[in-house]
Amino acid sequence: MKFFIDTANLNEIREAQSLGILDGVTTNPSLMAKEGITGLDNILKHYVDICSIVEGDVSAEVNATDYEGMVREGEQLADLHPQIVVKLPMTKDGVRACKYFSDKGIKTNVTLVFSAGQALLAAKAGATYVSPFVGRLDDISTDGLNLIQEIREIYDNYGFETEILAASVRHTMHIVNCAKIGADVMTGPLSAILGLLKHPLTDIGLAQFIADYQKGNS
Ligand code: E4P
Repeated sequence: MKFFIDTANLNEIREAQSLGILDGVTTNPSLMAKEGITGLDNILKHYVDICSIVEGDVSAEVNATDYEGMVREGEQLADLHPQIVVKLPMTKDGVRACKYFSDKGIKTNVTLVFSAGQALLAAKAGATYVSPFVGRLDDISTDGLNLIQEIREIYDNYGFETEILAASVRHTMHIVNCAKIGADVMTGPLSAILGLLKHPLTDIGLAQFIADYQKGNS
């Protein structure tokens, strides 16, 4: 399972990268705004900065909503760096744009996916990644993990190569459960990734090892 971090914060990306387990980054316009990154030049520079920290794929989302605009913006983003993946919304124009980029061999991530039918369309359009939003479905009392399971089944039935990128992952158990289902990738906040480290028996065991070592070596 690939681990992506879902942030535009460079320090968080550096911290996750320093663990040696990071496979990529996803961003979206809200995450960019949260970091105060505004204006086209700053936005493009920020994506290049992210690419210089990590080795894997970096999803950069278009802001246009029409096909021509998405193609124009996506080409500009893809030209920035070979690690850039063009992130497109699950709309009619987004699906058309996805097909356009996949035909050109440019990686894509179809985002804002909330149903198995939408995921099927994204795969048909040749998306590199499909991003079902687990947490936002949970927020409205709908089982987000069930959607991951449905998409896994459909993709496996037909051998679709589109990777299931479990998005809107909010906490550590989302990661574990997505891994059990067989999501190809998960993207989540640093806190959810670091949560995987934690177990009280690890802390107790380590404290005991240190104490026993010190008894014999002081
Ligand atoms: C996906 O790529 C999105 O950036 C993200 O995972 C959305 O997460 P949220 O629902 O926590 O905003």
